[in-house]
Amino acid sequence: PPAAMAMESLGVLLLHPMNAYLEQELDSRFRLFRFWDSPPDGRAEFLRANSSAIRAVVGNAGYNADAALIDALPSLEIVASFSVGIDRVDLPKCRERGIRVTNTPDVLTDDVADLAVGLAIAALRKIPQADRYVRAGLWKAKGDYTLTTRFSGKRVAILGLGRIGLAIAKRAEAFGCSISYHSRSEKPFPNYKFFTNVVDLAANCDVLIVACSLNAETHHMVNRKVMDALGPDGVLINIGRGALVDEPELVSALLEKRLGAAGLDVFEHEPFAPEQLFSLDNVVLVPHVGSDTEETCKAMADLVLKNLEAHALNKPLLTPVP
Ligand code: DGY
Repeated sequence: PPAAMAMESLGVLLLHPMNAYLEQELDSRFRLFRFWDSPPDGRAEFLRANSSAIRAVVGNAGYNADAALIDALPSLEIVASFSVGIDRVDLPKCRERGIRVTNTPDVLTDDVADLAVGLAIAALRKIPQADRYVRAGLWKAKGDYTLTTRFSGKRVAILGLGRIGLAIAKRAEAFGCSISYHSRSEKPFPNYKFFTNVVDLAANCDVLIVACSLNAETHHMVNRKVMDALGPDGVLINIGRGALVDEPELVSALLEKRLGAAGLDVFEHEPFAPEQLFSLDNVVLVPHVGSDTEETCKAMADLVLKNLEAHALNKPLLTPVP
């Protein structure tokens, strides 16, 4: 049938092995090209050889359709990102070339918000540190673990009150926390206190949670001034993107204990986290796992597949990036 033919003829370049189910379904529905099948020094040649067939790219938060890749693919029609954040897609270039872009909003909101609150509690209650204490035999040798700090009832500030920021606010409210925020959204939230300035936001909270998207305006938005405003009792949580925070300044603030603690899911140069943090007791580190649950990854993969299918069949995209 023509629909099946339209799908089978859509050449899709998957940039790296991000999800087994996604890969398997892409392979069975479309004409799949696996970028990692060619060695790094053979990729330019691989793109040249397949440039007329590749009409779609699937990338994610780690690697996506950047300027070099888009330039190498003259037949590219759509970038379907396996992520909500599309900071690694060259959007101006896509716009210029008329390349459509889709992402995976909504389906991951709850999981990322869960992790944000989880990191805040882990950082304040020192859960990973306490776990290490037990495993090292220190409970028996040295006695009770140190006292920690409560999360319930704290003043939680959220940077970026979009879908994920709002889901974090709802969870924090359930813990009896008061909510303040800074956001580009014009929409007022009567129960939450708005700050026009990020330094003032940080100066008036106990826990600052970074949940905005990365772009030229938000790059290094959490700078030394913001960290100093949070201060030695403040906690910084980042589940957005590493580059929202000035990472060298964060490392110094944690080393010098000018900042109380941090919980980090994202880093400026993933898959690397600054090694100076590894020996510190005031930071909880996880490897960009905000949306990594079985349930969410399946839903994200289904959205990527449905968007590509809609594109192949000339139907409206499900989650187009405006
Ligand atoms: C996203 O979807 O942008 C998350 O960072 C997971 O990749």
